[in-house]
Amino acid sequence: MGGILSYVPLSLTTQTLMVAAVFGTTAYYMFRKSYRLPPGPFALPLIGNVLSFKGTPMYQKLAEWTKTYGPVMTVYLGPIRCVALNSTEVVLEALVTKQADFAGRPQTYSTLKFSDGGKSIALGDYHATWRLHRKLATKALRHFISGNQLEQRVTDSLAKVIPLLKNAKDPINPHEYNTLVGVNILCGVCFGETYDVDDAMFKNMIHLFDEFLNSFGNGLLEDIIPPLRLCPTGKMKQLTKVMDEFFGLMDTFIDEHRKTFSPDHCRDFTDSILLAQNEAIEEGDELTKSRITDEHIRQTVGDIFGAGIDTTRFTLDWAMLYLATSPEVQSKVHEEVDKVVPKSGTMLLSYRNQLPYTEAVLHEVMRLSSVVPLSLPHSTICDTKIGDYDIPQGTMVLLNLWMMHHDPDKWTDVEDFKPERFLDETGAMAPKPDSWLPFSAGRRVCLGESVAKPELVLLLAGYMRQFKISLPDGVKPDFEAIGGGFVRTPKPFKVVFEERD
Ligand code: HEM
Repeated sequence: MGGILSYVPLSLTTQTLMVAAVFGTTAYYMFRKSYRLPPGPFALPLIGNVLSFKGTPMYQKLAEWTKTYGPVMTVYLGPIRCVALNSTEVVLEALVTKQADFAGRPQTYSTLKFSDGGKSIALGDYHATWRLHRKLATKALRHFISGNQLEQRVTDSLAKVIPLLKNAKDPINPHEYNTLVGVNILCGVCFGETYDVDDAMFKNMIHLFDEFLNSFGNGLLEDIIPPLRLCPTGKMKQLTKVMDEFFGLMDTFIDEHRKTFSPDHCRDFTDSILLAQNEAIEEGDELTKSRITDEHIRQTVGDIFGAGIDTTRFTLDWAMLYLATSPEVQSKVHEEVDKVVPKSGTMLLSYRNQLPYTEAVLHEVMRLSSVVPLSLPHSTICDTKIGDYDIPQGTMVLLNLWMMHHDPDKWTDVEDFKPERFLDETGAMAPKPDSWLPFSAGRRVCLGESVAKPELVLLLAGYMRQFKISLPDGVKPDFEAIGGGFVRTPKPFKVVFEERD
């Protein structure tokens, strides 16, 4: 080797580097583990399979590819190797059987940038600090949005929206009103605040949430083409602006809370995280102090606020679109709700058990709409397996919840809106089918699931008690979603809210 190199006029350093590269590569191939990776479509160098996702949402393209490669496949997002899991069996194997192996989150350039270096619950990797914050947030949520707190927040949020809808003479897009409901519930939980539709603060929030979705879209090129980080794309610039504004808002709320904070009087979610920080400081617990920094607090509060609003408002939007186009289903909801819910007064949690049909409607809406179609990306924290395939440590894992919800082997008349499929022969809610997983499962299961389920039933029942919803005359429903795949949102649509006697 040295002999060959000596004929070439190279400096000693270059020669050394070349020799090292040759030995390094040989050693790599000799000693690397031979993984049996899942099959997948041909991927171009550097850009991988991203061109295949142009024009077709990723969850749908992955579903198509299962016909060729089966439910477990390797795809490349740029140079990032991902494994996509596309059936109930393999998703449950990862999330329920293997649990911790699949509990990581990919730490990409953008997730690190927007999570203060991985300090958020939703975007943070699976480690002790993440577990601490998940535990703190779960406890605080349970405290501030369960029992009569939840009842009151739902009742108050509906009370702000229902009069506006009663006054609406023309067909309207319910999106802004559903956003107001979501914002008021989560602002109440996190900061003890609620807003009216005309408030500048509410308008700012709706702008931030909508801009986030517009600018994030299908993901960011900077994550897969590192040189772009030096000269960011317009999308990245826009998203950075939106995220700066969002966290600026979180900081303002948190700072206000600090000024009036009292450890003896915990008012809301933000106070309870401040209390945990305060206790660590008082006890001189250096480790916990380092795990509950101000950055962790803004991220945890931002997680609850951000994750809860979009999912709630889009689920309600889809529910209204499906109900407006299914008068028979809607009249069954009316019949059930009328027997249980009085026309005024607090929306009691105890109503939920008496509203199985309404709950089944929401289950069916969540199945068909699959608002978070690919869940949030996971990552493997160790070398592991799915079936006979090896999944190396650090692999990004996509969970195709949309495919589970639209799998013709699991659901009859898969595209039809049939809430009855979730009921047993007595009309009560049947046990949850394995293939229904809108909140995901396992260590990363949605932290708000136990809040979202009763909250959505009460909200929908509250709307249905007051209104009959229909599409304007001559308008055909459009169930195609917009957006590339991160969140499935309906195209803007209008409905008529007719006040019920
Ligand atoms: C219809 C309502 C909702 C749906 C369909 C939904 C769905 C999801 C899904 C699919 C995930 C990803 C789970 C995974 O990584 O495997 C998630 C995560 C999360 N959700 Fe929800 N969600 C809803 C409502 C809420 C609400 C109301 C809150 C808060 C009050 C919330 C807070 C969170 C948080 C903090 C995470 C991150 C969990 C983690 O990474 O450990 N969600 N949600």
